[in-house]
Amino acid sequence: MIKKLRKAVLPVAGLGTRFLPATKATAKEMLPVVDKPLIQYAVEEARAAGIEQFCLVTGRGKTALVEHFDVAFELEATLRERGKDEALASLAGAVTEPGSLITVRQQVPHGLGHAIWCARAFIGDDPFAILLPDDLVLADKPCLQQLAEAYYQTGGNIVAVTEVPPEQTNRYGILKIGQDDGSLVEVLGLVEKPAPKDAPSNLSIIGRYVLMPEVIKYLALMERGAGNEIQLTDGMARLIGEQPFHGLRYEGRRFDCGDKIGFLEAQIAFALKRPDMAEAVRTFLKNYV
Ligand code: UTP
Repeated sequence: MIKKLRKAVLPVAGLGTRFLPATKATAKEMLPVVDKPLIQYAVEEARAAGIEQFCLVTGRGKTALVEHFDVAFELEATLRERGKDEALASLAGAVTEPGSLITVRQQVPHGLGHAIWCARAFIGDDPFAILLPDDLVLADKPCLQQLAEAYYQTGGNIVAVTEVPPEQTNRYGILKIGQDDGSLVEVLGLVEKPAPKDAPSNLSIIGRYVLMPEVIKYLALMERGAGNEIQLTDGMARLIGEQPFHGLRYEGRRFDCGDKIGFLEAQIAFALKRPDMAEAVRTFLKNYV
């Protein structure tokens, strides 16, 4: 029986070194794309995929992330009093259901695998999604919803994948693939950040996963991998052969917002999707570039 997907883990305990000094006192996931912080895009995408329970894996200096999803009584009352209905309505997506958001701390950033292991009590015996908020996906159907639909067909583990330039495999988790129907691919192996000459393909994992709880027992081994970090990819690789494991070539475009260029590209792409801004942005780009 395929269990319903209700839980999502959002790891946000990284140091965000690529975005210093912006991330010195502010969490990377609070950086806005147009007018919404990255973390809110992730929570809204998860909700659209049927997620009901959220676990943020946080670290020091990340309290604003939790505040962001709280009710802001004073602000709301003031906006109401002043008749600022549009501003008031814009806050709607920024509140989670009472009791649906919890946090756990990853005291030391030992790596993404370790961050997920920190959420083990929340995960329990259930399948769960992972969203890395700095990977932002512009898509007609939200990326996690595409993954969830595929999960209900295949069962087991499934990760969102995309082709990357072959010379960039050393930045990503890379798949060794078996059967491939052009959309869904069978995963035969996973390697974190292989050098291009060692890469089994150029199909890379992006920050959207549906995993089975058994991955936790492999992460608990605390084995260090690429960059001397406890890698999620290595834990997932241990599941191959034990459980179904697929990659899904999602439809949409991913922006790596942990990277300066990716972040700027996302600003432009998302602004161009906004009816209230598209024309002004297009005119600016035409005249400026
Ligand atoms: P990144 O590789 O982007 O690392 O992590 P980072 O620290 O956030 O950023 P840079 O590379 O220093 O600029 C991918 C995701 O994993 C989380 C991050 O918060 C991000 O969502 N992460 C990473 C943790 O939660 N804990 C870790 O120990 C490492």
